[in-house]
Amino acid sequence: MSQSETTQSILKCLSCENTYPLDENHYTCPACNGLLDVVHDLTGWHNKSDELRKIFDERLTSWAAPDRSGVWRYRELVGPTTAVEDIVSRGEGNTTLYNAISDLMLYTGVNRMQLKHEGENPTGSFKDRGMATGVTRAHQIGAGSVICASTGNTSASMSSFAALAGMQALILFPEGKVALGKVAQSLAYGAVSVQVRGDFDEALELVRTAAATLPVYMLNSINPFRLEGQKSIIIEMLHQRGWQVPDWIVVPGGNLGNSAAFGKALLEMQEVGLIDRLPHVAVIQATGAAPFANAFAKEFDGFEPVTAETVATAIRIGNPASFAKAVRTVVRTDGWATAVSDQDIMDAKAKIDAAGIGCEPASAATVAGVRKLVEDGVIKADEEVVCVLTGHVLKDPKVVIDYHSKAMQNVDPAFANEIHTIYGTLDELVEFLPGNAAVRL
Ligand code: F0G
Repeated sequence: MSQSETTQSILKCLSCENTYPLDENHYTCPACNGLLDVVHDLTGWHNKSDELRKIFDERLTSWAAPDRSGVWRYRELVGPTTAVEDIVSRGEGNTTLYNAISDLMLYTGVNRMQLKHEGENPTGSFKDRGMATGVTRAHQIGAGSVICASTGNTSASMSSFAALAGMQALILFPEGKVALGKVAQSLAYGAVSVQVRGDFDEALELVRTAAATLPVYMLNSINPFRLEGQKSIIIEMLHQRGWQVPDWIVVPGGNLGNSAAFGKALLEMQEVGLIDRLPHVAVIQATGAAPFANAFAKEFDGFEPVTAETVATAIRIGNPASFAKAVRTVVRTDGWATAVSDQDIMDAKAKIDAAGIGCEPASAATVAGVRKLVEDGVIKADEEVVCVLTGHVLKDPKVVIDYHSKAMQNVDPAFANEIHTIYGTLDELVEFLPGNAAVRL
């Protein structure tokens, strides 16, 4: 198959397996309301992984916008395949894969750990990857207005991409439960910002009803085109690793779109031979918002939504929309799901932050999760782990200040770094130099 040929794709229901042409606009299956996948006919790429790798490598030396994008660089695998002139892009992706420093490895108990920092995307979270494909789709079908419910990052990202594409952005978020940086972003990018007197799950319900009845295009991760872009986190990470598969990929779970996308990416990459085995995907939730981890503990025999509460407001979700797809990921990769406390999340965050890398609380659930899974004997010390950090440290500055000034309720900071105040003399300042034993204590 040549580079210019397009991959044929359809929409397919995960539950009843009905299929629909790609140009029909469905968010969920019209027959059974199940979740839809964008399914690509990848047979033309079977046994051609060398050719694909060469194409992806060559694009790294190109300045063309679609090639510079960490999403559209992988367009043979990331739908909707589209004329490259047509794409909406902010040069998303291209995020750093850090080798964890020894302090973090000591903290978690694994010897080989990397951190893929999706907070380095243009609006500071992984959502930009899904918006590259989602807003491109909205643009293709001529949408004038796009809508989402959000705990803050989806809305920040959608607001930016919609502005870029000349569309109205209408965002709904839970009143008082979105981190400061995220609210500021959507206002700045010009979105119509509406707070709902309820939680994320209620806001999403309203958005789903609105999208079914009003002339607005929904860009929550139920939209299968969103997840296509998010697959590129995994494709890019494996490209960075020379297509060497780690033993574990660890991701925070909220609405479970990312967990869903990771499994799809891995299965498709295995299908075309880019990877020769599947890593285990571990989904980490906060204990106050852990319907998926609870269901995993019961071997997915049933599912009960919860009323969610956690300091990690990004994943304060009790009724995750992509539940069934995330089950597929964990089952097919022989993965795991667990939950970590707010205390563990904030302490792990302090460690990641102090390593100079930084992330928002939800992202730190991954490192806290690795630590827990090592303690539980699920991850072995010599296994290789990649954690996906989903959002930037500046998304939630309040929680950083509160932690380090010991002002958080229910969290006793183990690694607080307090602010010092002086009158302004050299004698006072010298006390802070590392050679001074008093400061070391
Ligand atoms: N980490 C961050 C920083 C997030 O913003 C989110 C989700 C997640 C993890 C969880 O990802 O939903 O795919 O399981 N944020 C959504 C939002 C819900 O509205 O910004 P997920």
